[in-house]
Amino acid sequence: MIEQLDKEFVLQTYARNYVNFKKGINATLFDENEKDFIDFTSGIGVVSVGHGNKKVSDVIAEQAKNIIHISNLFAIEPQAKLGQKIAELSGMDVATFFSNSGAEANEGAIKLARKYGETKFDNKRYKVITLEHSFHGRTITTVKATGQESMHSENFAPYPDGFSYQSEIADVYNSIDDETVAVMIELVQGEGGVQPFDKKDVQDLAKFLKEKDILLIIDEVQTGAYRTGEFLATNLYDIQPDIITMAKGLGGGVPIGAVVTTHKDLFTFGDHGSTFGGNYLSTAAALEVLNILDEFKDSGKLDETIIYFQEELNKIYEENKDIFVDSVGLGLMRGLRVKDSDTLAAILKEAFNEGVLVLRAGKNTLRMLPPLTISKEEIDEGFKRLTNALSKIK
Ligand SMILES: Cc1ncc(COP(=O)(O)O)c(C=O)c1O
Repeated sequence: MIEQLDKEFVLQTYARNYVNFKKGINATLFDENEKDFIDFTSGIGVVSVGHGNKKVSDVIAEQAKNIIHISNLFAIEPQAKLGQKIAELSGMDVATFFSNSGAEANEGAIKLARKYGETKFDNKRYKVITLEHSFHGRTITTVKATGQESMHSENFAPYPDGFSYQSEIADVYNSIDDETVAVMIELVQGEGGVQPFDKKDVQDLAKFLKEKDILLIIDEVQTGAYRTGEFLATNLYDIQPDIITMAKGLGGGVPIGAVVTTHKDLFTFGDHGSTFGGNYLSTAAALEVLNILDEFKDSGKLDETIIYFQEELNKIYEENKDIFVDSVGLGLMRGLRVKDSDTLAAILKEAFNEGVLVLRAGKNTLRMLPPLTISKEEIDEGFKRLTNALSKIK
């Protein structure tokens, strides 16, 4: 039924699994037949505080009963408070523009950088350097900012000018010219294969760019909101970027994006906007998500969960070296590199059959992005099911 409806009335842009989830409790999902699945995906890094979170759903329900939306023509209390919370947690002197998604946040970041390039220098600076295995979104501009050539389909050309790609951070230095305005990177490449960069390499790049007055944009759409164990991966890497973008885990499932910047006065009235961005509903939800995660971190529970997940993951890795060639990632953004992409496809299929949801990243990485609040029991059960799946493909 659902499959038929979906195929008839929804544009077919995803190769979907036809399971009909009805309910979720933390990292456990239940389908229409009450079959349960352990969720090691959190909706691709979104449901940071788990499914059916009571505190978040209470805040959403309460907010919905009062005001869901007015418009950005009026001050929005939860939006202002969320901006304040982001500044506090980041430890940086920043202000935020709120959007509805990661791609939109990156669009905003690129606009901000272009304005910097246009207004601060004698010559026009507009070029943005990104990395080859990056992922920055699906709009015409952010897909072009994405360094994977395979995503620059002729079907959607022409794309905006000014983007170029380097395979390594070390190659960025020589690709800068006097029209370069920004370098945009993820600190742990998510879609590209759960690949963290070396801290020292990133710090050296950040220092170099600051000296050259070139902006550093950190795409924290996937790494932000405690995914790597700190509020921002930026905090973990101990750098001070000019612009940080967030989305995914920030709203716990409610669509939201954020352009967080130290250049607080660069955008002026009319430079940027969004009808929905930062409305009462999404910012009230995100504020509650951050309150929960802030407390979870402070209590030591987040670090405990990260350590436990990593230990259990490493057991699987060590026991299955005939399948896995590396264990990668940071915090609760983890991956196991699989020996080839056919084996990965088989694991994904069997894992689903066994009742554990996992993801693919890049060509051959088995990726896990569990809710940050996942329990030890759920971790144990998820890895038990994954082990069963692995035994089926041997
Ligand atoms: C690092 C990164 N940037 C941007 C995006 C795009 O975010 P959205 O799908 O919310 O537009 C993603 C999504 O996977 C991402 O991982």
